Amino acid sequence: MKGKHLLSVHDLSQAEVNRIFALAKTLKNKQRQGEEHQLLKGKTLAMIFQKASTRTRVSFEVGMWQLGGKALFLNAGDLQLGRGEPVKDTARVLSRYVDGIMIRTFAHDEVVELARYATVPVINGLTDLYHPCQALTDIFTAWEFKGELQGKKLAYIGDGNNMANALLETCAKVGMHMTVATPPGYEPPAAVLAEAGNDARFTGSRLEIVADPFAAAQDADILYTDVWASMGQEKEQVARRAAFAGYQVNSELLKVAKPDAIVMHCLPAHRGEEITDEVMEGSQSVVFDQAENRLHVQKAILALLLGN
Ligand code: CP
Ligand code: NVA
Repeated sequence: MKGKHLLSVHDLSQAEVNRIFALAKTLKNKQRQGEEHQLLKGKTLAMIFQKASTRTRVSFEVGMWQLGGKALFLNAGDLQLGRGEPVKDTARVLSRYVDGIMIRTFAHDEVVELARYATVPVINGLTDLYHPCQALTDIFTAWEFKGELQGKKLAYIGDGNNMANALLETCAKVGMHMTVATPPGYEPPAAVLAEAGNDARFTGSRLEIVADPFAAAQDADILYTDVWASMGQEKEQVARRAAFAGYQVNSELLKVAKPDAIVMHCLPAHRGEEITDEVMEGSQSVVFDQAENRLHVQKAILALLLGN
């Protein structure tokens, strides 16, 4: 996988996803046992942020440090990029200094453009379209808690956003079933469904979009939700609160999932909107395991893309 970009999970083969999971597990164990694992000694990662972040920033930065390398936090507003320097120029300049570029931004096309001109791997740290590092982490976490992934059911309740899109691609890649419950008008884009659908045909994954959250949650192994208004949609907050009113992950909804279902959220969460405090803090919630696993899974991604 050396030299590859990671813009969406669709870009990876099923074997590559498995390699990431296997290495993440190894690195997690090494980290916990205090064993040396400096796979990226002397390597540098540039991290461009156009949007806020807690998990992505800290897990990538700490991850590079633990691997023996260094990460540079670059607030887009402080770069010439923020004053109009073209993405394609930024890509070629940064490629002369660093061994990899992670970017969080709005338009997915910007990341595609960056990858086109960069001569080092580009990693998508969230766009309006996808959040692949989070989705890979989530399915890795599901594997830790549920074992064999093939045929497991993930019910996603809420907005057909970057998280829903990335999870559809990841579930399709590993043979998991996924049902999205979303109000009409908020479905994931048809192009994403088509792309994920191509993989689903090969892996036996079943992908569905429904309007009824209770139908989606029925017999689910995993209940997943995300915010109703993503970064960049602040002005739509009031309208979205009304549109998604019936789409909350709460104890009533949890009752129709499997008794041993786990509850996931990529965080940050808005308690009282897409999830209740009770469920978020309840015994079935694994949200902080997901957050921790960002570190281990991204270290695996970095080692495979930037390492030797
Ligand atoms: N889940 C996630 O990406 O969190 P941050 O926005 O804090 O990076
Ligand atoms: N859908 C959310 C995910 C945050 C990690 C957003 O884009 O803001």
